[in-house]
Amino acid sequence: MKDASANQTAKKAAGEAAADLVKSGMVVGLGTGSTVAWTIKRLGERIREEGLEFLGIPTSFQAESLAIECGIRLSTLSQHPVLDLAIDGADQVDERLYVIKGGGAAHTREKVVACSARQFVIVADESKYVKHLTHPVPVEALPFALRLVEKKLLELGGRPVLRLGKMKDGPVITDNGNFVLDVDFGSIEEPVELGARMSRIPGLVEHGIFENLDELFLARESGLERIRREE
Ligand code: 5RP
Repeated sequence: MKDASANQTAKKAAGEAAADLVKSGMVVGLGTGSTVAWTIKRLGERIREEGLEFLGIPTSFQAESLAIECGIRLSTLSQHPVLDLAIDGADQVDERLYVIKGGGAAHTREKVVACSARQFVIVADESKYVKHLTHPVPVEALPFALRLVEKKLLELGGRPVLRLGKMKDGPVITDNGNFVLDVDFGSIEEPVELGARMSRIPGLVEHGIFENLDELFLARESGLERIRREE
């Protein structure tokens, strides 16, 4: 088990390395979380040091605020529906490059942005890289549909837990005004099939299984490893 500062160093290494993928003229999806925050900060430095010019599409209020702080020009999916690149963090990535996201409750917008991009890159430290996905799957649900969504998730073999706020009584509310359930499915052998089943639940806005990762920037103790999806 790595200590917290080694973990931060690894997050920084992966996050900053991916910032080199951004070239002037690109439209870039900006993910949410503490790892990709290093990418966003490094992009701010490149704007100041090299005059890098690109447009960012943020995936959350957190990403938007940080991007503004870093001097990144922002746009919207309405203006730029096709992105050159999206960079984001992850809660877990398996060896087949299936991903679980949503630890920051931002996975719905993150998935929309990732699926709008020609290239989707994840930045992570090696604690997130596993043989099979086991992390509870974040699921965004309409408050109106909460009980039905919980029942259907139980029928799929999951154990849903409503995510509660910190420094706030009651549930976490997403940037879209919805609730989040963290659903433990144990070891997930067939993430695509599970994702498809969850997508059929009425009132389930989006689940946190991503299947379109192109490249993983993985910070290992031995150095940075880039793992690309095989064609
Ligand atoms: C937010 C996410 C984050 O990218 C994920 O939780 C990883 O966060 P961190 O880089 O802070 O470990 O999916 O919804």
